[in-house]
Amino acid sequence: MKIAIVINNNIRVDDAKLLATKLNLPIVDVHEPDFDFFLEYTQDYLQLRWPRHFNYHVDFVGGKQGYRRQHGGGYRQLIARAVGIKPGKSLTILDATAGFAADAFTLACLGGKMTLLEQSPIVATLLQDGIERLQQYDVNIAMQLLFIDAQSYLRQCVENKAERFDVIYLDPMYPPRDKSALVKKPMQLLQQLVDIKQDEHALLQLALALAKKRVVVKRPSWAEIIGDIKPDVCYRSKNTRYDTYHSPLSM
Ligand SMILES: C[S@@+](CC[C@H](N)C(=O)[O-])C[C@H]1O[C@@H](n2cnc3c(N)ncnc32)[C@H](O)[C@@H]1O
Repeated sequence: MKIAIVINNNIRVDDAKLLATKLNLPIVDVHEPDFDFFLEYTQDYLQLRWPRHFNYHVDFVGGKQGYRRQHGGGYRQLIARAVGIKPGKSLTILDATAGFAADAFTLACLGGKMTLLEQSPIVATLLQDGIERLQQYDVNIAMQLLFIDAQSYLRQCVENKAERFDVIYLDPMYPPRDKSALVKKPMQLLQQLVDIKQDEHALLQLALALAKKRVVVKRPSWAEIIGDIKPDVCYRSKNTRYDTYHSPLSM
C-alpha cells in the first residue's frame, strides 16, 4: 500500500511536513499515479484521498455521528446493553481495536470514559485529527487515543498490575464473507489499510485478565466464537453479535 502526503493550495504546509516526518512518508506535489492513497490537509481537517473511490476524514461533529452526539443512540441499543452502560453510571472502557471509532464514540456519547488503542499509523492519525476537532467542540466527551499495539499494551498492564478498566471492548477485523456485500466507507478503507492477521485469542485472554467487569467482543452474526472461550451472554442482531464475558474479577 503506497501512501504519500499532498500539500494542497499551501494549506498547513508546516503540519504536512511534520506529518511526513512522523509517518516517514514522501511529500508529492501532484496526485502521482504511483501512490494508492494521499493524506492531505484541508482548511478544516486531515483527509485521506483514495483516487477513483472517495475521500475520507473522521468527523464526530457533523453528519451522522454529530447527530448521534446531539441526540444519542439510547441505552437500549445492543452495544450499550452488551457493555452494560446505564444512565448515571460511569464506566471506564478500553476499546482495544479502535479503527475509526464509531463504536467508541457511541459509548462515549452515553457517558463512557473511553481509552482507544489503534495499531495502524494511518488510521490512528486520521482518528486523532477527528478527536481533536471533537474536543474543541464538546469537552464532555471523553475519548483518549493511544497509538499502540493492543497486545503489548494489555500485556504491560497485566504485568505491571497497572490501570484496570471496567470494560474491555474488542472488534477485530474479520475477512468479508461475501465479497460483493455492500460495506460502509470506513470499513472499505480499513480493509485496505489494515493487515487482517491478528491474534484475537491472545487479545481476548489478556482482556479477560484485565477487565474489572466484562469483556465484549463484536463479531459478525455468522462468525464463530473466539478460541474455545464460551461467552456468558450473546447479544444478537441480524448482522452482528456481541459476545460478552463476565470477568471473574467482578464476581
Ligand atoms: C474492525 S476495526 C474496528 C472498528 C471500530 N469498532 C469502529 O466502530 O469503527 C478493527 C481495528 O482494530 C485495529 N487493530 C487490530 N488489532 C489490533 C491490535 N492488536 N492493536 C491495536 N489495534 C488493533 C485495526 O487496525 C483496525 O483499525
